[in-house]
Amino acid sequence: MTKFVVAPAAGVAGAVTVPGDKSVSHRAVMFGALAEGRTHVTGFLEGEDCLSTMKAVSHLGVHVERPGAGEVIVDGVGLHGLRAPGVTLDMGNAGTAMRLFMGLLSAQPFDSELIGDESLMRRPMERAAKPLRAMGARIETRDGKPPVRIQGGVPLHGIRYEMPVASAQVKSAVLLAGLYATGTTTVIEPAVTRDHTERMLQSFGCEVRARDGVVSLEAPRSLQATPIRVPGDISSAAFFLVAACLGAQAPFTIRDVGVNPTRTGILEMLALMGADLRLVNHRNWGMEPVADIEVRPSQLRGARIPERLVPLAIDEFPALFVAAACATGETLVTGAEELRVKESDRIAAMARGFEVLGVTHEVLPDGMRIQGGQPIGGGTIDSRGDHRIAMAFAMASLRATAPIEILDTANVATSFPGFAELANSVGLDIGERA
Ligand code: S3P
Repeated sequence: MTKFVVAPAAGVAGAVTVPGDKSVSHRAVMFGALAEGRTHVTGFLEGEDCLSTMKAVSHLGVHVERPGAGEVIVDGVGLHGLRAPGVTLDMGNAGTAMRLFMGLLSAQPFDSELIGDESLMRRPMERAAKPLRAMGARIETRDGKPPVRIQGGVPLHGIRYEMPVASAQVKSAVLLAGLYATGTTTVIEPAVTRDHTERMLQSFGCEVRARDGVVSLEAPRSLQATPIRVPGDISSAAFFLVAACLGAQAPFTIRDVGVNPTRTGILEMLALMGADLRLVNHRNWGMEPVADIEVRPSQLRGARIPERLVPLAIDEFPALFVAAACATGETLVTGAEELRVKESDRIAAMARGFEVLGVTHEVLPDGMRIQGGQPIGGGTIDSRGDHRIAMAFAMASLRATAPIEILDTANVATSFPGFAELANSVGLDIGERA
């Protein structure tokens, strides 16, 4: 089992470019598969999660190639060109892939079955199955979890679905099924969630109406291939944002980061804690806004995190919790119960790590109260295969007084291949051991 051995480090210096956005990469391959013509994707995240999506799409009869680093060519087969896979589709660690494929496969003329790794097999799938069944889909889960069995050849009809949880994955599953449904498909969000599906469908020529948390579409006649340039993943940038707040000698720059406003909650949260962040060099890559982020060192202060920011930063809480442990005073996170159903129960996982490092905290059902500014020790933390838990605790080395050993780190490659190497190139000291 691979692990990180992270030695205390003084700070980070220089600049990084983080790998491509995971959410955008999944969608680029999936929508490219459904389009007419050839979609050329650049900046694609070559992490295990998105490779699972690529593999699934090729099992569905779509020719995909990787001609160079970060490049993917998808020869779309059109909305009605997918073929029966003939194998069980393995989504690995990728919840996004599983839930989005549930929507897409519900509308196909063939049966399919979805499985995943140990972590994914424990995650809730009824949240996506329920609205899809309301559209006419025939889906079975096992006690609400994978394997997910989908019966093909059933007609779907549009629904107006009020989501009980703010989930971009569920919204996207319903919209993907809506590409094949009769009538209008509408999703109403309880809070704003990432809107990459809406933006990218428009890039592929499908009209999507989105206003005040209400998203609607009608089945388009076709999707048209379009080049997709994937921005850097702000969820990966988050670890370096926190590192630079804790210990940058001079302005530290993270280049080419996707700054879609449905993803920038981490910037607002860190700013509330006193971080000095500047967005420069704004531009658009297709429908997605991109900028470079400059971070100057600052003394972070604890803050009450507004609940409205939670869905806008849902994957960044492990990094934020580490920032809070290093800030002066108390940080309070509430309204974040969704953290309990990610790749691991991230509230429990962060609490276990904090116990090892001696960070005073109180676990809440929907968040955590963290008492920052105390000395941080070293020790052994089991990430239990959760990539973001592993990377977050690596950043604690900027304040730790002794080495931190982080176990079960292979899944870092699901979202951030080359993480340790990149982190070491700017001043961290992460040893990777088999
Ligand atoms: C994602 C949505 C989020 C996020 C996940 C990626 C997406 O999940 O945690 O990493 O690409 O739509 P939920 O929609 O389930 O909150």
